[in-house]
This record gives sequence, structure tokens and C-alpha cells, in this order.
Amino acid sequence: MPTETQLAIQRAAQILLTAKHPILLTGAGISAESGIPTFRGKEGLWKNFRAEDLATPEAFSRDRKLVWEWYNWRKRLILSKKPNEAHYAAYRLKEKLPNLLCITQNVDSLHKRAGLKDILEMHGNIFRVRCQKCFRVGIIEGEVTHETACKYCNLPELRPDIVWFGEALDASLMHEIHSQLLRCDVILVVGTSGHVYPAAGFAIEVRRRGGYVIEINTDENHRAFPNDIYLQGNAATLLPQLDSLLSGD
Ligand code: OAD
Repeated sequence: MPTETQLAIQRAAQILLTAKHPILLTGAGISAESGIPTFRGKEGLWKNFRAEDLATPEAFSRDRKLVWEWYNWRKRLILSKKPNEAHYAAYRLKEKLPNLLCITQNVDSLHKRAGLKDILEMHGNIFRVRCQKCFRVGIIEGEVTHETACKYCNLPELRPDIVWFGEALDASLMHEIHSQLLRCDVILVVGTSGHVYPAAGFAIEVRRRGGYVIEINTDENHRAFPNDIYLQGNAATLLPQLDSLLSGD
């Protein structure tokens, strides 16, 4: 006898197979099994650090050295980890569903390291820097300090190319996401608490327009709407199961 979860995964696979414009929205939970802390979990970053001190423009103006130290620590941590089975399953899903658009709130590049291309990184990327004076963007995987000079204008004005609290998301990226949401008939939401807008509104928007919402999350008390498919469990277990059903395995 298949379990309730197995039946739900089968149903999710059927829905995805008929999708014309599916979206995969991921959050910190997809990287949790790689060993990267989420934000709001028990050991989440926002349980141990104050966002106001580290992830706002005001914090950066106040103490650039501290903010860079925190980002360097996170970069080292991420570089010491690898993509997990959920990232690889997302890559395979895209192979089977070429129209699948991946939108991630994660800044850790693990989707890319698993081979996935054309990802919309809503909150930026932790390995990118942006100059506050000349606005040019570059990639620096190693340490950056408040004294590191911009390679274009030579001024020590680099900041992480990440969207901080209180900042607007890139307008052209949001325009692209909104036009994709208008066409989206199935959204697969993996490992996000839905606390941070605008991403938190994407499933609401798809549901409102009559599309399907499929969600994978470890949270037992997560709120799912009647027509949604809620798969409770680890992304690194459930996403590969879902993916293998798409290939008829
Ligand atoms: P959160 O930490 O808010 O939520 C992580 C979600 O993943 C929770 O709902 C967990 O239940 C779930 N989860 C944990 N482990 C999981 C696993 N192994 N498999 C599946 N689900 C799992 O992270 P986000 O929702 O991504 O923004 O946070 C959104 C934004 O808030 C982040 O991008 C970040 C943060 O402030 C910025 O830094 C701009």
C-alpha cells in the first residue's frame, strides 16, 4: 500500500508533467542538508545574529569591517560544503521540464554548482561584490575586507551584491519574475518559510490565478491550502523521489 506521502508525490509528478510554465522557487531549506544553516530554523542565522547589525545598509555604513567579517565567514562555510541531492534533483527536473524556471532566494550558488543554469537569484549572490561608487559588479570568492579596492575604480567601496533588509529588489529581475508568474500554472516551492516578500507572495499569486502549488518543507505545522500538495519532509529525500517519478522510474 503506498503511503499518503507517496500518493501525494505521484499526484505532484502528474501535475508537473502537464505543466506548461512551471516555476521552482527555492529557499534556505534546500541547502540545509548541505550543512548550510537556514535563517529561521532552530540553529538559524537569525537566531544567532541580528539582521539589523549585519544585513542592512545602515549596518554597513556603521561597521563595514564587521559586516565583511560575517560575509567572509559565510562564504568560507558555503565553499566548504557541496550541493546535495535536492540541488541535483532540481537540475534533473530542468532537463525533463525545459520550461521550468528556477527562482531562488538563496545566495549560495549551490544550484549553479549542481549544474543548473538560468537561475533567477532574487537576493543576489554572496560571491559577488558591487562597488558603491562606480556600481560595477564582480566576483570575489575569497576574503574581501572594508579595505579591498574595486578593480575598476580602485576605491575601497565594495559591498556584498546582496539585497539587504530595507532595500528594493532589482527592478528588471522583478519585472521578469512577474511576467513569468502571470503564465505560471504550477509552482513548486522548496524549503522556504514564506516569511519574506515578495517571494512569499508567489505561491499566493499562482494559486489565485488557478494554478497548482506543490510544496516541500520539513515543517509539520506549515499552512497548506486545500488544493495544494504539501509534501512534508526533507528536500534531499523528496525532490529526488518526485524527479524519479517524472522519468517514470
Ligand atoms: P528560512 O530560514 O526562513 O526558512 C527555511 C525553511 O526551510 C523553513 O520553512 C524550514 O521548515 C524549511 N526546511 C529546513 N530544512 C529543510 C529541509 N531539509 N528540506 C526542506 N525544507 C527544509 O529561509 P528562507 O525562507 O529561504 O534573505 O528565507 C527567506 C529570506 O530570509 C532569505 O533569502 C534571507 C532571509 O532573511 C536575505 O538575506 C535577503
